[in-house]
Amino acid sequence: MNSAPIKKCLFPAAGYGTRFLPATKATPKEMLPVLTKPLIQYGVEEAVEAGINTMAIVTGRGKRALEDHFDRSYELEHQIEGSSKELLMTDIRTIIRECTFSYTRQVEMKGLGHAILTGETLIGHEPFAVVLADDLCDNDGDGVLAQMIELYKKHKCSIVAIEEVPKEDTSKYGVIAGDEIEENVFQITDMVEKPDPKDAPSNLAIIGRYILTPDIFDIIRETKPGKGGEIQITDALLEQAKNGKVLAYKFQGQRFDCGSVDGFVEATNYFYKKSKA
Ligand code: UTP
Repeated sequence: MNSAPIKKCLFPAAGYGTRFLPATKATPKEMLPVLTKPLIQYGVEEAVEAGINTMAIVTGRGKRALEDHFDRSYELEHQIEGSSKELLMTDIRTIIRECTFSYTRQVEMKGLGHAILTGETLIGHEPFAVVLADDLCDNDGDGVLAQMIELYKKHKCSIVAIEEVPKEDTSKYGVIAGDEIEENVFQITDMVEKPDPKDAPSNLAIIGRYILTPDIFDIIRETKPGKGGEIQITDALLEQAKNGKVLAYKFQGQRFDCGSVDGFVEATNYFYKKSKA
C-alpha cells in the first residue's frame, strides 16, 4: 500500500503542439526526444522520484504513441535481446514494471483547465500532482515535484510552481501576486493568465507543475472560458485561493520550455553537456 500523500500524477497531453509543426502533425509533442528520451518519460521519471507510481494521462486524437511507449514492445525487445542495446531500455522497462498507466481522451481541446477536469475520472477524490511534460525540469537534488510534495505535507493545499521571468515574457504565462510567507513560498492573492507586461502583477510565472486538491474539479466545472476562449486552470486556482489558500513555490532547479523551439534546443544542449560530464 502506497502511504505517500500524493499517489497519482496527471499528465495533460492533449494539446496540438502547433509550435512544432510539422513534427507534431502525426507525432505527439510529448514524444519529441531530448537526446534519446521523450519528454513524457522525463515527466514520469520526475513523478516516480517523488514517490508516485500511478500515472494518469489525458490524451487526444493522434496520441496513441504515448500509450505504446509505456507498454512492452515484444518484437523489438526480442530483436535486441542479449545485445548491448538492451541497456538503452533499462529505465523504460523499470517504469513499465513499477508504474500503472491509465488514459482518457479530451475530445475537444478547451484548455488546460478543461484537460485537468477531463482527468477527474482517473484521479477520483484525492490530492494529485500535475505535470506538463513540455516543461522539462532538472535539479541535482530533489526534483521539482518532490520539493512540492514536501511543501504539501506541511500546508495540505494546492500549490503551483513558479519562476521569475523577464517582465516582457509575462504574456506567455499565468502570473501570480502573493505574500511571501516563508522563503520561496508565496500565498497567492491574485493570478492573471498571460497578462500584458504592463498589467502583470509581478514577474513570478506559473510553470507546468501543480499539486491540486480535489475540490478543484468542482471549481473548474463552474469556471467560464477565459483568455483565448479556453477554460483556464489559473482562473479556477484564483477562485480556490479566494475561498481558502493556494501557494506558489519558487522551486530549486532548471526549467526548459520545451513547448518552444528555443527552449527545446536549450534543453537538448543542457542534457547533452550533462551526459558528457
Ligand atoms: P500549450 O499551451 O503548450 O498548448 O498547452 P499546445 O497545444 O500543447 O501547444 P501549442 O501552443 O499549440 O504549440 C500546455 C499543456 O496543456 C495541455 C498541452 O498538451 C500541454 O501539455 N493541453 C492544453 C491539453 O491537454 N488540452 C488543452 O485543451 C490545452
